[in-house]
Amino acid sequence: MNPVSVRVPAKVNLQLGVGPLRDDGYHDLVNVFHAVSLFDEVTAEPADELRITVEAAPGSRVAIGGVPTGDGNLAARAARLVAERLGAAPRVALRIRKAIPVAGGMAGGSADAAAALLACARLWDDPAAPALAPADLLNLGARLGSDVPFALLGGTAVGTGRGERLTAATVHGTFHWVFATADGGLSTPAVYAECDRIRAARGGGVPEPRESGALMAALAAGDAEALSAALTNDLQPAALALRPSLRGVLDAGRDLGALGALVSGSGPTCAFLAADAAGAAGLADALDRAGVAAQTLTAHGPVPGATVI
Ligand code: C5P
Repeated sequence: MNPVSVRVPAKVNLQLGVGPLRDDGYHDLVNVFHAVSLFDEVTAEPADELRITVEAAPGSRVAIGGVPTGDGNLAARAARLVAERLGAAPRVALRIRKAIPVAGGMAGGSADAAAALLACARLWDDPAAPALAPADLLNLGARLGSDVPFALLGGTAVGTGRGERLTAATVHGTFHWVFATADGGLSTPAVYAECDRIRAARGGGVPEPRESGALMAALAAGDAEALSAALTNDLQPAALALRPSLRGVLDAGRDLGALGALVSGSGPTCAFLAADAAGAAGLADALDRAGVAAQTLTAHGPVPGATVI
């Protein structure tokens, strides 16, 4: 059996509407996912036992220190899930090459899990009569994490429920982004918990989130300025409370000409929308000179989800 390599994108949330805390510990979301051109690569190769290695992608300065290489890595759980479904033994070596910031609010761990699902299915499933259809992989993905199905799908999509029920969105054109990473990640559960705490202290109920019509119209029109005005993230106050320095990063991006600025998902990566590719490159340079970010990265979206290469 030949090795299988899968390329998988990062995401930024264009709208992250967070409803009240549910009994199961999750929140109902309206989550507009947008896949951007920062890619991890996962290679699956037959081996004696399940093994994971993690390295920075060539040319990437992503800090991989905190990434688990045992069962704590979501990609390992993905491999076990596919093996169990196919009645195979999870004898696979997964090599993860990371360019997506770790614990950065860009779903890098979920992306690796999605890539591992696809790579292991390709390795062990029967190509003539596949036991696992794309819809089955999406379902397995939802068992692994709320953001995993989107990493399989890619593009731009509205996620409801925990974020795992996806509907593709109509998008025209390409949007150009700058991402400012921070040293040290933020824990997603901690950011959700802080969001609940802030809301409880404020009092008054939490409404169910609603999809933004202005955002969907901006996407359909390919209008970066209108999209910038419609970007929202209900987790942003919590991320800023846990990491106050992010306020200065967002302000710097706006001062340096970003059309729009927000914390990506649960943070701490900050996302800036530019008018075009040249605008994004100029903004990234200016943010680098300002020295407010660990690293700046440029990317465009939407891009396809996990793809065998
Ligand atoms: O689904 P996943 O394991 O990626 O979620 C990580 C954590 O994020 C959950 O344990 C929960 O604390 C929080 N979360 C949430 N509501 C969602 C998605 C995630 O509260 N819809």
